[in-house]
Amino acid sequence: MKKEDTLKNNIPYDIRDTGLADAGRKRIEWALREMPVIKILRDQESTSLFKNKVICACLHITSETANLVITLKRCGAKVFLTASNPLSTQDDVAASLVCDHGISVFGIKGEDINSYNRHIKELASRKPDLVIDDGADLITFLHNNPDLAENVIGATEETTTGITRIKNIEKEGKLLFPVICVNDAMTKHMFDNRYGTGQSTIDGIFRATNTLIAGKTVVVCGYGWCGRGIAKNLKGLGANVIITEVSPLRALEAVMDGFQVMKMEQTASLGDIFITATGNAKVISKDIFNKMKDGVILANAGHFNVEIDIDALEHLSKKITEVKPLVKEFVLKSGKRVYLLAEGRLVNLGCAEGHPSSVMDMSFAGQFLSLKYIVTVKKLQLKCHAVPDEIDRQIASLKLKSMGIEIDTLTDYQKKYLSSWNLD
Ligand SMILES: NC(=O)c1ccc[n+]([C@@H]2O[C@H](COP(=O)([O-])OP(=O)(O)OC[C@H]3O[C@@H](n4cnc5c(N)ncnc54)[C@H](O)[C@@H]3O)[C@@H](O)[C@H]2O)c1
Repeated sequence: MKKEDTLKNNIPYDIRDTGLADAGRKRIEWALREMPVIKILRDQESTSLFKNKVICACLHITSETANLVITLKRCGAKVFLTASNPLSTQDDVAASLVCDHGISVFGIKGEDINSYNRHIKELASRKPDLVIDDGADLITFLHNNPDLAENVIGATEETTTGITRIKNIEKEGKLLFPVICVNDAMTKHMFDNRYGTGQSTIDGIFRATNTLIAGKTVVVCGYGWCGRGIAKNLKGLGANVIITEVSPLRALEAVMDGFQVMKMEQTASLGDIFITATGNAKVISKDIFNKMKDGVILANAGHFNVEIDIDALEHLSKKITEVKPLVKEFVLKSGKRVYLLAEGRLVNLGCAEGHPSSVMDMSFAGQFLSLKYIVTVKKLQLKCHAVPDEIDRQIASLKLKSMGIEIDTLTDYQKKYLSSWNLD
């Protein structure tokens, strides 16, 4: 592992190997082909939009994130980037950002939790003006170290779990700066969580195991935006999909969408593969493991590695071996084997490359335009904010345009009709 140094471009960084920059550059360029909205923003927005602003971003260090931070830098920001997950960093992308773009990056694929936390601290010590987070680890750190948050005028949060955490800070009246909930924009969760997680989670399982999905019984825990996408794609691949839920509405929706719905405990002896996507903890817990079939595969698509109770799984096991990269075999005391992917962390980022660039294009356009909104509005109220509707509409319009799709507009007669109540 390389130690943090300041040799390249005279900037601080801590990445695996600057020698990987060539491969990273190609990967970033490949991703940009499918990021037309980010490309438009990069070309059209003022190069002084974020002048004199220090932006600290805690995001998965992928080729799509690279295209976001390059765009922010082009618009005048001084950008620092750290990983939002110890397993998701693309080391070649990190190298290209440092060497080709002079952006300080702190993240190494497979780093331990101490290194992960040290990097978050490193970012916070830059005393950011703007913060981008994915999972709220950086925002939480800043709230626990308020002197480092003095300059923050606003932050944006990328994912469902991060927003849950930040809203809990807000509920306790402890929010230090306004936060825009990017995940709640329609151009984010309807596409990124549903189609992105829906595809890349299965991609992660394929790449890690090469298992056949057709004919398998797959239990999907949580029928939210991510769960719906995962379940739909699994069904398309020929799996028998079972959903577990705690929300009666979402459970009912799953039933009407044609899935079996049952309690977690009932699924235990039926599933060949289990995928968690709830944002909750201990969804697959101690009691379930012993009831599972021999050879089951467990994967998590939720933000943190808490959905599968790994401590309990370790406790129940007599032998644990890594049988393939990021595939751990747990031999239970009963002799049954359980395979855990990506250490129970985000399987799509640990075992595959995360979401396709095309959906991240919209999510990151939401990030960019939300940051623009923060600096343009000047003084946002101290609370969690929704992404303004105009931003959602702007992103959707740009995306449709890039796809060569035109849609109708309301005629004057239709506008009048829709705003009337007396229809005579
Ligand atoms: N893998 C990725 O790249 C990726 C992308 C987006 C979001 N996420 C993460 O995925 C998780 C889910 O996000 P979402 O947008 O689908 O959230 P969501 O709120 O739309 O859905 C979560 C669902 O899980 C259900 N749930 C909660 N506890 C449960 C339990 N014990 N058993 C069964 N169901 C339970 C909830 O009722 C809800 O319907 C979050 O942690 C989010 O941050 C991951």
